Amino acid sequence: MRILLLGSGGREHAFAWKLSQSPRLDALFTAPGNGGTSQHGTNLAISYNDFEAIKSAVLTHQIDLVIVGPEEPLVNGIYDYFKADAQLAGVRIIGPSKEAAQLEGSKAYAKKFMQRHGIPTAAYREFTADTLSEGLAYLDTQTPPIVLKADGLAAGKGVLILDDLAVAKKELEAMLGGKFGAASSTVVVEQFLKGLEFSVFVVTDGKDYQLLPVAKDYKRIGEGDTGLNTGGMGAVSPPPFVDEVLMDKVIKRIVEPTVNGLAAEELIYKGFIFFGLIEVGGEPYVIEYNCRMGDPETEVVFPRMESDLLEVLVKLDDGELGTVEVGEQVEAAATVILVSGGYPQAYEKGKVISGLEATEDSLIFHAGTKMADGQLVTNGGRVIAITSFGLDFQEAVAQSLKNAATIDFDGKYFRSDIGFDL
Ligand code: AMP
Ligand code: GLY
Repeated sequence: MRILLLGSGGREHAFAWKLSQSPRLDALFTAPGNGGTSQHGTNLAISYNDFEAIKSAVLTHQIDLVIVGPEEPLVNGIYDYFKADAQLAGVRIIGPSKEAAQLEGSKAYAKKFMQRHGIPTAAYREFTADTLSEGLAYLDTQTPPIVLKADGLAAGKGVLILDDLAVAKKELEAMLGGKFGAASSTVVVEQFLKGLEFSVFVVTDGKDYQLLPVAKDYKRIGEGDTGLNTGGMGAVSPPPFVDEVLMDKVIKRIVEPTVNGLAAEELIYKGFIFFGLIEVGGEPYVIEYNCRMGDPETEVVFPRMESDLLEVLVKLDDGELGTVEVGEQVEAAATVILVSGGYPQAYEKGKVISGLEATEDSLIFHAGTKMADGQLVTNGGRVIAITSFGLDFQEAVAQSLKNAATIDFDGKYFRSDIGFDL
């Protein structure tokens, strides 16, 4: 099979690495890819949001299967674009339809879906500029922390958690006034939940599903989960607190009602569902749905997945997901992300990366890297994901930290406390 993978992060390098182990893979193209995906195939200088250019690449390179890493093209309807085009209709594409991608693309849509199907999630109300005064009055009835969420995609920045009611009111007004552009023309106000978060992934054809290994990511820049939110500073799989009892509740109350809900509403969904969950007093709640794999979770989930990912995705597209087994390694995995100094605020690019060849016993996934004049240089905030295995996540983290010291670039920063709360 000839594959086109869309995206350019550590997640996409992990996809490329996993796909390249499949005997069914003939050729892999990644658009736009990074310095890691080029080790497994050909990078194409195309934006993953440029559907016309993607179509032309699919035809030129005789692509059989398209895999979409990030949420934006999915929410913008790349699945429907393929199905509506006579030349592309026969090409397999893994992803939800535009309608179903609203589970990630609109927090209000996701909330209503969960309500219809009795799926546990925080209580909420939604407001627009027209109902601002009702929103402000509603906030008066709430006890901080107040959770405000831009309805639409806001590059991971659209959620505010505020300890002060007056500040929350100002922020609600600012959001409805366009703080996050059209993404915050509707704002969801949500009950604050306190507990440990974890990430559950499934592949689904909209009727059957298969679970992938469970993970937990670390989003804050600072040790002890302090400071600004980032795209993700590390992850572990499996998180030990997600035991059989909790997973049983997740499956019965969340995963199955979600997949059955898709089927009942005849929503077309042939792809990944990422359930962002939180455990509160032993009970799981949905914080958010994503219609794609997580980053950096993918960098620990795929290394622990035993089965052939490409085989699973073909079966998914053929509607035969019920017949596949997704095996899981008993060893734990952890990833530590090396980021550029200053990230998630302003940072510099183009710093030479050294020491990769001296690393041992870890998988090195590139995120923000590129080749320039024959040298590997930094090209983003998150630069490298270092994934290791161990008998438990502590052992895996320790191994990744050894290699985090070996790899170097000007301004390198990483968290050495991944898994600290487990
Ligand atoms: P989201 O984009 O919905 O995943 O939200 C980003 C982050 O905000 C989550 O990973 C949580 O850490 C936090 N968060 C979101 N919703 C809530 C909530 N209802 N209660 C507590 N924390 C939340
Ligand atoms: N790791 C969280 C995300 O990918 O959204």
